[in-house]
Amino acid sequence: MAYNLLKGKKGIIFGALDENSIAWKTAERVVEEGGEIVLTNAPIAMRMGSIKKLAEKTNAKIIPADATNVEDLEKLIDESIEILGGKLDFVLHSIGMSINVRKGKHYTNQNYDWTHKGLDVSAMSFHKLMQTLHKKDAMNEWGSIVALTYMAAQRVFPDYNDMADNKAFLESIARSFGYFYGKDKKVRVNTISQSPTPTTAGKGVKGFDGFINYADQMSPLGNATAADCADYTLTLFSDLTKKVTMQNLFHDGGFSNTGVSDEVMAKFEK
Ligand SMILES: NC(=O)c1ccc[n+]([C@@H]2O[C@H](COP(=O)([O-])OP(=O)(O)OC[C@H]3O[C@@H](n4cnc5c(N)ncnc54)[C@H](O)[C@@H]3O)[C@@H](O)[C@H]2O)c1
Repeated sequence: MAYNLLKGKKGIIFGALDENSIAWKTAERVVEEGGEIVLTNAPIAMRMGSIKKLAEKTNAKIIPADATNVEDLEKLIDESIEILGGKLDFVLHSIGMSINVRKGKHYTNQNYDWTHKGLDVSAMSFHKLMQTLHKKDAMNEWGSIVALTYMAAQRVFPDYNDMADNKAFLESIARSFGYFYGKDKKVRVNTISQSPTPTTAGKGVKGFDGFINYADQMSPLGNATAADCADYTLTLFSDLTKKVTMQNLFHDGGFSNTGVSDEVMAKFEK
């Protein structure tokens, strides 16, 4: 169902790789709600993914940009403002990557070059993005910036590895930048802490099947899907949440506040 929540609003969506991506679902819903978008992803993802299909469907231009490269970000923002015909109302940062996770390095035996790269891609890129937007005064007043995160920033999930630290850094950047962006430009900045979701990034975490089933059985409402996440993000881009900022918002069917569920207890009863 569409509510026209984003009529007249323009923005950039990072991170749509394929149709499972959270950013993919969000791009589709943003356009259904009347928003106009530019799609972006790392140049390498252009070759791997099917983003062109999404661009056709959402009537969007694609501008490749490595989110760790400030020059790429500058170019992306300038061109987006030109294509969309004005400043931006929303930006989605839906980017994450750890080489230690990908190559199966244990948390206690990291390759620090890889750790550094993962931190840059998954967390520092969010600062670089906002610093570039801020310097260029590229956001309209009451605009909204959202990044995606996971609860391993607060609690230990052993196989989430160095991504846990990357997410803690990401959430901190959202708070710190949110203060300045709010004061200077009335722009809000939040992170959404999403349930485990079967995407390329998600499935890369060791033991993902167990992980996602456990979360589902622990959550009174069940796991939030990528489509649910897209809907939640729309509310944060809309004018209905103007005073929500500097928050880490759990979008997880109640998982984060559940000690144990009947389903999980049943597995341990003799
Ligand atoms: N899938 C999950 O279980 C889950 C749970 C909570 C949070 N998240 C977060 O959601 C976000 C989106 O991930 P997803 O699950 O949709 O997976 P995904 O693999 O579909 O998306 C990750 C995206 O990051 C992009 N990316 C990687 N390096 C980049 C770079 N240098 N520059 C620009 N883009 C780059 C990839 O190309 C890809 O499009 C990530 O921040 C992820 O950590 C995912």
